[in-house]
Amino acid sequence: MSGSALYETFARAPLAFDHGEGTWLVTDKGERYLDFAGGIAVNSLGHSHPHLVAALTEQAAKLWHVSNLYEIPAQSRLGERLADATFADKVFFTNSGAEALECAIKTARRYHFVKGHPERFRVITFEGAFHGRTLATIAAGGQYKYLEGFGPKVEGFDQVGFDDIDAAEKAITPETAAILIEPVQGEGGIRPVPTQSLKRLRQLCDQHGLLLIYDEVQCGIGRTGKLFAHEWSGVAPDIMAIAKGIGGGFPMGACLATDEAAVGMTAGVHGTTFGGNPLAMAVGNAVLDVVLEDGFLEDVQRKALLMKQGLAAIADEFPDVIEDIRGTGLMLGLKCAMPNNKVNMALRDQHLLAVPAGDNVIRLLPPLTVTDAEIHEALNRIRAGAKGLADAIAVAAAK
Ligand SMILES: Cc1ncc(COP(=O)(O)O)c(C=O)c1O
Repeated sequence: MSGSALYETFARAPLAFDHGEGTWLVTDKGERYLDFAGGIAVNSLGHSHPHLVAALTEQAAKLWHVSNLYEIPAQSRLGERLADATFADKVFFTNSGAEALECAIKTARRYHFVKGHPERFRVITFEGAFHGRTLATIAAGGQYKYLEGFGPKVEGFDQVGFDDIDAAEKAITPETAAILIEPVQGEGGIRPVPTQSLKRLRQLCDQHGLLLIYDEVQCGIGRTGKLFAHEWSGVAPDIMAIAKGIGGGFPMGACLATDEAAVGMTAGVHGTTFGGNPLAMAVGNAVLDVVLEDGFLEDVQRKALLMKQGLAAIADEFPDVIEDIRGTGLMLGLKCAMPNNKVNMALRDQHLLAVPAGDNVIRLLPPLTVTDAEIHEALNRIRAGAKGLADAIAVAAAK
C-alpha cells in the first residue's frame, strides 16, 4: 500500500484546515489563508455563516433523513422558492452537480420518449465543457483525459467547438434531443458564452423542437451577480442543473425544468435516496434567505467590479505573468502568461487560495459575502505574487 489509504485521484496541496471564518481558512497550525477558492465555488456565503450554522444545527437536532417515501416540507418549500425565482415549474433535488446533470439529461430524453420520439436521445455539448464525473457526464464533457480507460464512451453526446453556434446547428440530426451548455464555463477556463450565442441556441432549439439545458452548477446562485448567470442574457432554458452554491458547503444539487420539459418524469421513472433530505433542504433554504435579500446581488455586482478593476491593473503591470482578466461577477479568471500552476503556487505562498482551470487560467471564486477590505487584501496579495514571479523572470532574463 502507498502512503495513504485514500484513492490517489487527487493531487492535494499539503494544507489541512481546522476551521473557517467568513472568507478566511485557518490551518491546523493556526495559519490564516484568504479563501478565494471557495471550495470550488461552493462556499457561496463563506465559512461558518451564522444563518447557515443555525439552520443546519437546528435541523440536526430535529430530523436528519426520512427518504423520499414521505413528504419533506422544507423540500417542497425550497422547490417552490426556486421555481418562483426562475423559469422553472418543477424541481428534482440531488446530492451533487453530476447527479443534477444526469437528471437533466434523463429529463430531456424522457420528454422526447413520451412525445413519441424515442429516437431523439442525442445531446449537443461544447468543447471545454465540464459536467461531472459519472459515466454519462464525462461523455457529455467530452474531455479525453476524463474518458480514458473507462470503457466505451456513453452513447449520445456530440461535441462542437466552444461558442461555435454554426457547428451546433450543423450537428443537429433527427436524433438530437437537446443542447447542453454552461452559460459561463468554469473548469474550461472562466469562459462566458456571449448573449447573442445563447439567443441563437434558443432559436435553434425552438426551430428544431430541442430542449435547451443549462449547466449552472458553478455559475449559478449569485456567482455572477444575478441569481443565475443566464439572466444576464434574458435567454431562459427548458432545463437547468444547479449544485455547489445552493448548499453553501452542504452537498446538494437540483434539476429545474418547465412543466412541459418535465412531462416525462412521472412516478417511478427516476429517484434518489438522499436527494432533498431535511438537512440539505434546511441549508438550501437558508442560503436562499441570504442571497435573495434585497440588495444582496447588487452588492455582489459592485464588489465584482471593484475586484475586476483591481485585477486589470495588476495584469497591466505584470503582463509576463497575467495576460488577461476574464469572467463576470465573482467568477473571475486570470489568464496566465506562464504556467497557471506556478501562479497558483505563488498566490498560495501569499496565503491566498485560488483554483487552476483549463486554458491556463486561475479561478478566483470568493464567497459572495467577501468584504471590500478582503478584496483589497486579496489584490495586494495577488500583486505581491505577480511581482515575485515577474522579478524572477527578469532575473532569469538578465543571466
Ligand atoms: C459546471 C459544472 N457542472 C457539473 C459539475 C459536477 O458537479 P459535482 O462535482 O458536484 O458532481 C461541476 C463541478 O465542478 C461543474 O463545475
